[in-house]
Amino acid sequence: MTDPVTGQGADREHAAPPEGLPLFDGPDFKADSPARFAELRRTAPLHRGRFIDGFTGWVVVDPALAREALNHPMLVKDPVRAGLVSAEDYARDVLFAGNMLTADPPDHTRLRKLVAGAFTPRSAVRLRPRIQEICDGLLDGIAPLGETDLVRSYTRVLPMAVISELLGVPEERRAEFQHWSDQALGNEPGTDTYEGMARLRGYLAELLEEKRREPDEALFSALIRVRDEDDGRLSDEELLGTGALLVIAGHETTVNLLGSALEALLRDPAQADLLRADPGLLPGAVEEFLRRDAPVEYTPGRFAAEDVRLGGELIRKGEPVTIALGSANHGASPGGGTGLDVTRGDARHLSFGHGIHYCLGAPLARAEGEIGLRSVLERLPDLELADPERPTPWISAGLMRGPTSLPVRFTPR
Ligand code: HEM
Repeated sequence: MTDPVTGQGADREHAAPPEGLPLFDGPDFKADSPARFAELRRTAPLHRGRFIDGFTGWVVVDPALAREALNHPMLVKDPVRAGLVSAEDYARDVLFAGNMLTADPPDHTRLRKLVAGAFTPRSAVRLRPRIQEICDGLLDGIAPLGETDLVRSYTRVLPMAVISELLGVPEERRAEFQHWSDQALGNEPGTDTYEGMARLRGYLAELLEEKRREPDEALFSALIRVRDEDDGRLSDEELLGTGALLVIAGHETTVNLLGSALEALLRDPAQADLLRADPGLLPGAVEEFLRRDAPVEYTPGRFAAEDVRLGGELIRKGEPVTIALGSANHGASPGGGTGLDVTRGDARHLSFGHGIHYCLGAPLARAEGEIGLRSVLERLPDLELADPERPTPWISAGLMRGPTSLPVRFTPR
């Protein structure tokens, strides 16, 4: 069956997608997705397509239709409602059942409210000094080196450190944690996303027992209190599903915001100089980076709960639909192109989604983007690509967009 989180792995045993449908990921597409999307927008607002890991369905590429699809009450997250799977099989088979991102109202409303109560925009503000400390610590290690791969040493480390602190994951478990999260997302063709999710949840179950014995101030303990004190409001399954969602949604996404932003600045040093000269531009620049390269290039799958008309096409009950946020951010005028202008201050985008599933972590992601980028620009003033001729390698499969390595050099200090 289709994994409603990654939108991949449709029928894992029979994953031979119909040939003939256009492919929406893979190294060739992902290395060139802005141009590919521009071409697709010219021919139709949505297309039937396939992904390497077996997902076949509709892909919305037009900005206005993207909003309509994201708001459509009959494009649902729960495959049970779309008649694709029985409730028993879903609960057993999909390791990500029990989180808000794969739920519809009323479950979605209940789960989101519980997490939103513990995870407010104010908690992002409170975390800012800690985010700064983490950036400073990482850059203390990087600055004397004179060269590094910024993805390995910085953009992948910062968000995992932040989300781990938020949840209360001890430092010694973070590397494993990150590995499972990568695996669960299937950023490379052929990864076993189910195994990654199973391991992630297995570890969270351990953490659950630990935090029950010794509660701390972190978010996971707060959610456990909700679970244990308000009987019946949050099941253990939902607690684990929510924890796993926060790890994946709160980490890979921000890694790619930072990575794509730094890649763009390294390719266009005049833009980096503007930010160094006026760090006040950074909040607006973060929106511009989000607009230019949507870290979540495709939303996780939705399903038609009944036959639905969308963009002149008939989507049959049960058919999956994904929204290409990476396409929907462009093509809208004015200034909807793929060029970078950190001074514009009016960048609009759908990178955090739209409607009831709008990203709960947007304030935190913005804080990490702003502090993470400002700290690198300040501490490494003559940062440049180690080999400007080398094309940037991009994540080659799945929902995410971001560079997989960014070798740079700078004067050691
Ligand atoms: C640049 C970073 C981020 C981007 C681009 C991003 C993007 C998104 C998008 C597009 C959705 C909606 C998906 C859909 O409609 O199917 C979403 C939902 C969500 N995000 Fe984020 N996200 C980011 C960072 C974070 C962070 C840091 C957290 C938490 C620590 C987080 C937590 C969530 C949660 C819990 C949801 C589910 C909301 C719901 O279903 O109601 N995200 N995010």
